[in-house]
Amino acid sequence: MQDWERAYQELPGEAYLQVLEKIHATLKPKTYLEIGVQYGFSFSLARPGTFAVGVDPHPCIQTDLQAWSRVYRQTSEAFFISYPGDPFDLIFIDGLHQYEAVVDDFCNAEQCCTSKSVILIHDTIPLSAETSKKDFSPGFWTGDVWKIVPTLLQARPDLAVFTIACPPSGLTVIKGFGKQEGICPQVIEQFRNQAYAWVAPQKKSALNLVENKPEAWMPFLLK
Ligand SMILES: C[S@@+](CC[C@H](N)C(=O)[O-])C[C@H]1O[C@@H](n2cnc3c(N)ncnc32)[C@H](O)[C@@H]1O
Repeated sequence: MQDWERAYQELPGEAYLQVLEKIHATLKPKTYLEIGVQYGFSFSLARPGTFAVGVDPHPCIQTDLQAWSRVYRQTSEAFFISYPGDPFDLIFIDGLHQYEAVVDDFCNAEQCCTSKSVILIHDTIPLSAETSKKDFSPGFWTGDVWKIVPTLLQARPDLAVFTIACPPSGLTVIKGFGKQEGICPQVIEQFRNQAYAWVAPQKKSALNLVENKPEAWMPFLLK
């Protein structure tokens, strides 16, 4: 069986794009930031009434955009250096799929959050050791993004962190901002080299999985 097929078999229900669409429809964010827009499949889900900002060093938008939108052709690192810091209501992190980059994206994004903002991180449920290696491999590849979830659960008990078990690779929701504390370096170090074998038998607890049904995750989103 191909990795893609296995991913959809292990995580049944609506795919992340449909879940993201529901989140847009529910939260109706006035401002939206997406890191990693690629072809625009997720970016185009921002609705009229939202001001959407996309960041990607190689954007290749192939979809019609509904929101008033602006795309910055640069890395997220470069974007955050020059961004003045006006807050975003909803932020979707789906750029470079490496733990250290996701940690940086999260910490920079947190600086653009109000107490009502929500951050989403894609690709947080690893399928296998092979497909969750740090180094890019063609085909189904999530990188080691998953490590951000146990990192936040341990380092930031002030935040609400849960992962919707949607195919192909999960969507983590983070909310409850206010302290803007970032992540302490010792916890980053602890998870940097954590192996897939560590998370494999305990995905439900280590990633705080929530069933992929709106009635299961919506109450957490709205709480
Ligand atoms: C998986 S794709 C995004 C898919 C898109 N969010 C969707 O769901 O339709 C990842 C994108 O991240 C971009 N990317 C890679 N490194 C990045 C960085 N340092 N900052 C921002 N985007 C980056 C890539 O160019 C690529 O287009």
